Amino acid sequence: MSTHAAEAARRRTFAIISHPDAGKTTLTEKLLLFGGAIRQAGSVKSRKSAKHATSDWMTLEKERGISVTSSVMQFPYDGRIVNLLDTPGHADFSEDTYRVLTAVDSALMVIDCAKGVEERTIKLMEVCRLRDTPIMTFINKLDREGKYPIELLDEVERVLDIPCAPITWPIGMGSRLKGVVHLLTGEVHLFEPGKNLTRQDSTIYASLDDPALAQRVGAEVLNEVSEELVLVQGASHPFDRELYLAGLQTPVFFGSAVNNFGVQLLLDFFVEHAPPPKPRDASARVISPDESAFSGFVFKIQANMDPLHRDRVAFLRVCSGSYEPGGKAYHVRTGKEMRIGDALTFMASERGLAEYAYPGDVIGIHNHGTIAIADTFTAGEPLQFTGIPSFAPELFRRVRLRDPLRLKQLHKGLTQLSEEGATQFFRPLLANDLILGAIGTLQFEVVAYRLKDEYGVEATFEPAQVVTARWVKAEDGGALEEFREKAAIHLAIDATGALVYLAPTRVNLQMVQERWPKLRFEATREHA
Ligand code: G4P
Repeated sequence: MSTHAAEAARRRTFAIISHPDAGKTTLTEKLLLFGGAIRQAGSVKSRKSAKHATSDWMTLEKERGISVTSSVMQFPYDGRIVNLLDTPGHADFSEDTYRVLTAVDSALMVIDCAKGVEERTIKLMEVCRLRDTPIMTFINKLDREGKYPIELLDEVERVLDIPCAPITWPIGMGSRLKGVVHLLTGEVHLFEPGKNLTRQDSTIYASLDDPALAQRVGAEVLNEVSEELVLVQGASHPFDRELYLAGLQTPVFFGSAVNNFGVQLLLDFFVEHAPPPKPRDASARVISPDESAFSGFVFKIQANMDPLHRDRVAFLRVCSGSYEPGGKAYHVRTGKEMRIGDALTFMASERGLAEYAYPGDVIGIHNHGTIAIADTFTAGEPLQFTGIPSFAPELFRRVRLRDPLRLKQLHKGLTQLSEEGATQFFRPLLANDLILGAIGTLQFEVVAYRLKDEYGVEATFEPAQVVTARWVKAEDGGALEEFREKAAIHLAIDATGALVYLAPTRVNLQMVQERWPKLRFEATREHA
């Protein structure tokens, strides 16, 4: 096996999906601790102080302040390289999350044992299902009273429609939590609050029948769990790796992230069974991670990540070959060679900054406005990775500038923020004003705030008479020209220069579509 194929095989690239407050941040931190990527608890947590900010967009603002490195956290564990891709928290930014999920090979679902399956988890699960993403489940906060474990499995199976294969099982819960039993090895790991429960630092019994265990936790609770396990084994499914990899079964773990409990059992199982990078569809053909020629796609763009450097970073997931410092790559959309030599890599510990990147890894390319979400980079072949979702804006506002002399800055700000994909901005052909489209109302607040903070522009947003946007395409150049003239009053140019029809009403759109059968009116500027 070539070096890069061997490197690809040991990559585990995943994201955590959960409802806010289930424990994603806490679990992330514990995983990094086990990976040796951070030395002490609190390093990740500190950004959660953002949660106590007064509004949601301020949360976003604080999150943006965190360093580039927390977008992708890479750490070695047990001979593997784990890449944990962060997903943004707020519901209004879910399209960002969707795109991150196109860049992972598997997901980890965190569920609060008291709350069970919550609304956002259901949505994220639907996204994972579109790509048959394999999912492991961690049921968290076992140190608190919650629903019965059997009930929780039942809820996951019913609500999320995925069979469960419990791998660990709790012994007691809340104040009576004694430990977990590993259903595949039979080992019992004791819950000892306050202890940093790594394998060396935890009490492990060979099985539930170990007399020393009965002495330690009492026979009664063990009898209870044995009875429960008879039920569980009858009602649930044995772990089947093929089914898991096909997204048709989820292995389930129980624990308490904040107590470090049950986390290492999860991580050990994860690195062993979670999938390495898979072949990916690039329209003309499927690309295998074993191929030596470099390829990858951009799934996220972020402007001004570091307020001091004002940089814009395009996050690229490597799909084949390898990235080396000093390298160049072919930017398929523009047809140009681009230097990507000074890309950022994401080893989470200070020691050993990864210089090379292999399939499954993510690199951050400095972007000067030429890179867009869903762009493909290759070693020269004109391929296009497919399946990166694009979202049509549903809300439109006219941008009002306080100081007309700042128009240039306004353009720059709107263009750069639109590259991130959450908003889109349109310049009407016949008017001087600007229209901003977004998916959620919160976006307008965010844009106003960021324009002021990052570009020194004060702008407000007013209602605009636009209900929806359609990207206008045609094979017939003549028809397009004619349309451009006749419908100019409703036409605009987007940030990439594409022609867009801004429909004042649904009825108007329907009429226009009927009147111009040679034109195509597309709901999104297709990413793929
Ligand atoms: P999130 O990223 O999914 O939103 O959740 P986060 O990790 O921030 O956890 C949400 C809250 O749940 C935090 O409390 C966290 O300490 C707590 N938590 C996480 N894991 C466990 C667990 O295993 N048991 C218990 N009992 N609590 C847990 P908080 O009060 O919001 O924040 P903090 O002040 O404790 O940091």
